[in-house]
Amino acid sequence: MRIVLLGAPGAGKGTQCKRIVEKYGVQHLSSGDILRKERAAETELGAKAQSYMDSGGLVPDELIVKMMAGAISKAPQEGYVLDGFPRTVNQAEQLDKSLVSNGQKIDAVVDLKVNEKIIMGRMTGRRSCPKCGAVYHLENLKPKVDGKCDRDGTELVQRPDDKPEVVKKRLDTYYEQTEPVIGYYKRNGSVLELDATNSADKVSAKLFEKLEALAGR
Ligand code: AP5
Ligand code: MG
Repeated sequence: MRIVLLGAPGAGKGTQCKRIVEKYGVQHLSSGDILRKERAAETELGAKAQSYMDSGGLVPDELIVKMMAGAISKAPQEGYVLDGFPRTVNQAEQLDKSLVSNGQKIDAVVDLKVNEKIIMGRMTGRRSCPKCGAVYHLENLKPKVDGKCDRDGTELVQRPDDKPEVVKKRLDTYYEQTEPVIGYYKRNGSVLELDATNSADKVSAKLFEKLEALAGR
């Protein structure tokens, strides 16, 4: 199964992707996570991406498309769920071209819908594990031990781009450059729209219901 998960910053893409991976055994391909790993490893790509990420803008398409094509080519037979990619109409077109040339297609495009007030609360309360990438929230999804990752006990951190002023810029970037991607997929097929303002459990229950209905068609 190949899924594209769309949604504004903080909509819960990473959170839902982890559940999709557990249920369907596909690979989670998050462009943001891959970029953060490149930065941590101090690679050339990581250095190039840094200023764009820290200011809430987008990393140039040519760098992202190459990076994600590499990740997709290594994905297992079970498939993958794309999180944070494509994020511009140009990226979506490039992805489609490479899928066509590999004889593949995306099975489902899902859009997680939230409002700005919820987004702000989710971003400012988010804490992540710098080692395994697990995501928590100070109120909504607390770790078992305060400040420590449930999986490996690593000290949780706040992402530098979750400062309120950067979140505002990321939202502007989303409306200008990423929202049009929803229209692109609607014109070229269909988009499963999900109310993502509910609890993570309710959102994933609905998401699985929709994916299964699609698979049974
Ligand atoms: P990226 O890492 O992709 O960030 P994002 O899209 O802004 O999304 P987030 O990761 O912030 O949110 P999310 O939707 O994953 O929410 P989460 O599940 O964590 O990108 C970072 C940067 O990299 C970009 O700004 C850009 O510079 C660059 N980049 C990445 N991809 C690129 C591309 N394709 N092209 C160009 N540049 C690119 O949830 C958020 C919080 O809410 C958590 O605390 C979670 O516990 C909580 N939560 C989740 N769901 C719920 C729920 N249902 N109820 C209550 N709380 C919830
Ligand atoms: Mg994420």
